[in-house]
Formats: sequence, C-alpha cells, structure tokens
Amino acid sequence: MTSTQQAAERRTDEVVLSLRGISKHFGAVAALTDVDLDVPAGHVVAVVGDNGAGKSTLVKILSGVHPPDSGTICFDSKEVSIPTPAAAHRLGIATVFQDLALCENLNVIQNLFLGQEVRPLRLNEVEMETRSWDLLRQLSAKIPSVRVPVASLSGGQRQTVAIARSLLGEPKVIILDEPTAALGVAQTAEVLNLVERLREHGLGVVMISHNMADVQAVADTVAVLRLGRNNGVFPVADVSTEDIIAAITGATDNAVSQRNERSQTRQARDKEGLSS
Ligand SMILES: Nc1ncnc2c1ncn2[C@@H]1O[C@H](COP(=O)(O)OP(=O)(O)OP(=O)(O)O)[C@@H](O)[C@H]1O
Ligand SMILES: [Mg+2]
Repeated sequence: MTSTQQAAERRTDEVVLSLRGISKHFGAVAALTDVDLDVPAGHVVAVVGDNGAGKSTLVKILSGVHPPDSGTICFDSKEVSIPTPAAAHRLGIATVFQDLALCENLNVIQNLFLGQEVRPLRLNEVEMETRSWDLLRQLSAKIPSVRVPVASLSGGQRQTVAIARSLLGEPKVIILDEPTAALGVAQTAEVLNLVERLREHGLGVVMISHNMADVQAVADTVAVLRLGRNNGVFPVADVSTEDIIAAITGATDNAVSQRNERSQTRQARDKEGLSS
C-alpha cells in the first residue's frame, strides 16, 4: 500500500496538528496571542483574517521559521517543537509559500527534484520523469509537459508544481499561503480542484486565504484570526460569508457592544422615567 493510500484510510476526523495557546511577539508587537488551531487529517482548514492579523506569523511558526514565545504544538498526538524548516519537513509539515520559490529557467522535473535529486551516484533522469508524472497524475494536474521551463507555465500550473514538489516529502499536513492570490478564474478553479485532491489523499490542509469564495468553495472549517487572536472557528457549511467577514472585521463585537449600549441607555432612561 502506498503512503497516499494509507493516508486516505486514516480516519478523517483524526486531528493531526493541534496548536494550543500559541503566542508570539516581535518587540512590542503582539503578532499572536493565545491562538488555538486544530487540523484534522482529510480536512481543509481555512485561516482568514485582515492584514496584520497574524496569518503569516502562524505559518512561519508551523514551518520552523519562527519559534513561538509560548504555547504547545502537537503533531500526531505528540508534543513537538519545530526549531527549523528541516524539522518541519522531517515531521511531515510542508509549506508552499506565496512566492512559490520555483526556478524559472529550470523545467518541471528539475524544479520538483531540486535539492533532492534521486540518488545514488548520478541523477536517474528516467526515474525522476516517471515520478514527476505520477505525482502530477495523482493531483490530476494539467501540465502539458514536464520538460518545459517553469517560466512558460501559467500561474495555476506553477502553483501545481510548487504543491507537487512539497508532496515529495510525503507530508501529513500541507500549508498553502494564499494559493489563489493573483490567479484568474480558470486557474483558481484548477488550484481549488488540487486542494480537493490533497484532502482526498488524507492530508490536513491549512489554507491561508483572503478570498471568501475560495474558502466557501473548498474549506471544511474556517478559523478567523483578528488582531492576533482567535475570533471564531466555523464549519463552512453552517456559516455565511457575511458572518465570516463580520468575525474578520470585528463587526460582531461592535454589533454586540452597540446593542448592549443601547439597552443600557434604554434601562437608564426607563429608570429616570420611573423616578420623575
Ligand atoms: N519579523 C517581524 N518583525 C516585526 N514585526 C512583525 C514581523 N512579522 C510580523 N510582524 C508583525 O506582526 C503582525 C502580524 O503580521 P502577519 O504578517 O503575521 O500578518 P498577516 O495576517 O499575515 O497579514 P497580511 O494579510 O498582511 O499578510 C503585524 O503587526 C506585523 O507587522
Ligand atoms: Mg501574511
């Protein structure tokens, strides 16, 4: 059985990555305060929030770029620390950063295997090409040829190559930072299909996004960050776009506080009315 099949057979509600009470400061800036997040296998968890809400900081903590100041990270039910990107890779957490970090002049195979060329002794070109096609087929990716330079691919195809590359390490969790930003309609649809393939393969997917349509289309749950804190975790099936946006902007707090203020004023007025 391949690891992908094993992953697919894993119970889909098993939480593979779990954060509790994660905080991170940069000098005086509290980028994250007491953040919790659960990522089950075979689920897409969208992390949304306004600019500066702490999304990238969270991604960097999970990918071994920044250590958290406090809090715990559990992976496969064991408490872990992720001091370096290599440690994240070893655990099985892959991150596709927004800039994708592909080499434009190299072809698809070369990009997929950059730094991990099939060994020993010399690169086995045939094996790399076969594995490239296998990977892309698993993802139902539409790449015309694995021998074309990445420079000639569309944005969606590049995203596919970057995701395929991160799958070579056989991760259990994949983090996608704004995978559809700057893509056209057709390419966005292609990438969203790809995210669904990842879920079918049993991976826990963390998708950072600004696009509510994408979140509604593909996520199972949406976790809102606001000013570095959790501001709600919703099952996508039960929440409207307006509710998500309200949690992102804090309109919910305002609505609640405005309502409380109104009722307090009314009570005060009623009291005055009674005493006079
Ligand atoms: N390396 C750093 N040094 C100092 N401050 C930082 C650093 N990285 C992030 N911050 C601050 O932490 C806060 C959270 O930033 P972060 O980049 O995580 O937000 P974000 O949700 O990814 O925003 P965006 O949607 O704009 O990408 C911001 O106030 C930001 O200025
Ligand atoms: Mg960011």
